[in-house]
Amino acid sequence: MKEALFTSDTAVQAYSPNTVFFCPEESHFYSQCLEKMVLKHCTHFDSVVEFGAGDGSPVISCLLKIKFDGSIQGYELNSEACELGQSRIEQYRLEHQYTIHNKCFFKNFSSKATYLIANPPYLPAPDDNLYMPSLHGGEDGATITKQLLSIGCENVMLMISAYSNPVETIEYALNQGYQVVDFMISPLTFGYYSCEPKVKKTISELRKNRKAFYSQNIYFLAGVLFKKRDSYSTDLSVELLRVMTAL
Ligand SMILES: C[S@@+](CC[C@H](N)C(=O)[O-])C[C@H]1O[C@@H](n2cnc3c(N)ncnc32)[C@H](O)[C@@H]1O
Repeated sequence: MKEALFTSDTAVQAYSPNTVFFCPEESHFYSQCLEKMVLKHCTHFDSVVEFGAGDGSPVISCLLKIKFDGSIQGYELNSEACELGQSRIEQYRLEHQYTIHNKCFFKNFSSKATYLIANPPYLPAPDDNLYMPSLHGGEDGATITKQLLSIGCENVMLMISAYSNPVETIEYALNQGYQVVDFMISPLTFGYYSCEPKVKKTISELRKNRKAFYSQNIYFLAGVLFKKRDSYSTDLSVELLRVMTAL
């Protein structure tokens, strides 16, 4: 039942990939990262905010697998995705744990949340005239990721792509007082959104300046857990970048 959230034919038919984000491999990996690095460790004292919930399937899939006592407030700009997400939340009776608001995250999130989670837009391109404009991550793909790292949340779990200027992104996080306390990495093949010619061209230009790392059709996507620096945890940023820049 849980895997069906990412793969069912009905889901594929229900989507228009130019309005509702649809990349099952990526959403599934984000869900695994959430489960293993965040939600499993939360207590009822924790509150979680999510940037860009999409259709909610990554979080819903986790909540169906694990015991979770906290609450998650998701934000999603796209009304179609939001409606799909809310109806699934009701279908699985998860209203007490997860809500998706059809609002811009930056104008509405609670700064008191203990965790910020996101699979943010990270497509690099000169402008947002793309198949799905809300996946635009600025010229190097890292603009929204950096914005999320500057709001000051204690713990932040973000998906970071090896073709979206990962080295400067991690340096930025360290300068914001974070350390990398955990990460998971998966190889993904370039898909519908990243193969758009304008995006592919930008990625190949970034590669020349060592701001994008990939092989012909594979790139690494990392789920990275950042925590505000303390003396108890070890910073894993060097290990993370060693793998992310290997291709
Ligand atoms: C890469 S998709 C991730 C969707 C979902 N979390 C997943 O992994 O399947 C990023 C999502 O962020 C949403 N988004 C972009 N800017 C936003 C904003 N300012 N506030 C809320 N959502 C936003 C997009 O509409 C898109 O659905």
